[in-house]
Amino acid sequence: MPRASKKRKGSVPLAAIVLAAGKGTRMRTQRAKVLHQVCGKPMVYFPVKRALESGADPVVVVVGHQGDEVEAALRSELPGAPLRFARQEEQLGTAHAVLAAKTALRGHHGAIVILSGDTPLLTAHTLEAVVSARAAPGSLAFATMDLENPEGYGRVVHSPGKGPALVVEEKDATAEERQIKEVNAGLYVADADFLWSTLSRVEAQNAQREFYLTDLVALAADGPGAVAVRVSPLEASGVNDQEDLSLAIRALTRRIASSLMGAGVTIEDPERFDADEGVTVGPDTLIEPGVRLRGTTRIGSGCVIGQGCILVDTVIGDGVHLQPYCHMHRAHVGSHCIVGPFARFRPETRLAEGVRIGNFVELKKTSMGKRSKANHLTYLGDATVGADVNVGCGTITCNYDGERKHPTRIGDGVFVGSDAILVAPISIGKGAYVAAGSTLTESVPAGALALGRSRQVNKSGWARKRAASKSPGKGH
Ligand code: UD1
Ligand code: CA
Repeated sequence: MPRASKKRKGSVPLAAIVLAAGKGTRMRTQRAKVLHQVCGKPMVYFPVKRALESGADPVVVVVGHQGDEVEAALRSELPGAPLRFARQEEQLGTAHAVLAAKTALRGHHGAIVILSGDTPLLTAHTLEAVVSARAAPGSLAFATMDLENPEGYGRVVHSPGKGPALVVEEKDATAEERQIKEVNAGLYVADADFLWSTLSRVEAQNAQREFYLTDLVALAADGPGAVAVRVSPLEASGVNDQEDLSLAIRALTRRIASSLMGAGVTIEDPERFDADEGVTVGPDTLIEPGVRLRGTTRIGSGCVIGQGCILVDTVIGDGVHLQPYCHMHRAHVGSHCIVGPFARFRPETRLAEGVRIGNFVELKKTSMGKRSKANHLTYLGDATVGADVNVGCGTITCNYDGERKHPTRIGDGVFVGSDAILVAPISIGKGAYVAAGSTLTESVPAGALALGRSRQVNKSGWARKRAASKSPGKGH
């Protein structure tokens, strides 16, 4: 959850390294693992954000696979944050990755926290626990967790009475070591001088021919020793494949739901609710099942968000009622509006207070003044609609001539009859009436009645004559 970043007053300076250079082969995708989206953000955003919140400055992100995209994504998500980027051209292992950050941290003395770019569920609380476990000048603290199925993780081997002796990767482990359920979570806090001097001693003599960061544990045991801090697997598990990704998305979404409920939002079924990181909802708002709130969406208080509504980068005022299955993208809905069911708002739709939009109405780049209505089956595009306007069923703005878009202006208090076709550019003056079924190609002065349809002709007796002409023996 968002938390204001805090400066670490009175304690040793803290910097962070986030490892994000690997491809993530087990994802089986073209896209680098850390760029996969979790609640609207690239996975790597989360550990970087947590590091910033813990006061780390700078945070060095080690990038390799799709490094430019990773850098661009983080810079746009975290503008102004003290981020630095280091390149690891060839991925020769986690120790090699940390060494790639050394230049970016020249002159930093104090502590360095090392995080994995694939741990989106890490909480500030867990991070803080590991940071504070490192006794002031101590060399190394790292997080461990107990897993029922430890497969794929490095196992933590303790020497009796002396704390952690080493971490052994699964591929290098003996059958006996593989039975160990305490695994390395991949989160470390080290003293900077210890880190750089010790990393230079790491070798790649192991099953994967990689430089393992986990060797630090055994190397620390030579000196002042390492501290293992047990943390919750719910918070420190890494994402390695698509199955893990889906679990991480679910877990983070559930956390967002909990924090909204804690702030007075009613969510009928949090398991059938999706929200991106950063979405806000006011108290006394009721959210029905199947709602999805994305991007920078903000919802006021006392609203009802009906089943199946999808809101993207949309702002909803107070006391709004969205009936089921509305889709909105970059829209702005004023307080006390009633919308839907089945309304679609495309970008730059703006409703003032108390507007009523009904079923199967599409609005694009259109503003509606206070208390105006478009209750059924309507398309309004590039339109500026005043206050107290009634737009009848089936009304359409013809805003596109095949090359360009044209505006429609409808003044306050206008009544547009059903099935009107308004060919833009066009304006309807204040208080005017548009007759039902009209096709208008010219503007209407204020207060006028516009009739844009051919006069009706009734042919009396027509049906009888037709029937007679079809009866047997007559019609050839
Ligand atoms: C690592 C640990 C393992 C631990 C697990 C926890 C090592 C040798 N093993 O294994 O003990 O249980 O994390 O999740 O450290 N990366 C780079 N450059 C590289 C290699 C990796 O940037 O050359 C990055 C990856 O992009 C990823 C992170 O480091 O974000 C961890 O790498 P990964 O390959 O997932 O390590 P694991 O095999 O999971
Ligand atoms: Ca991993």
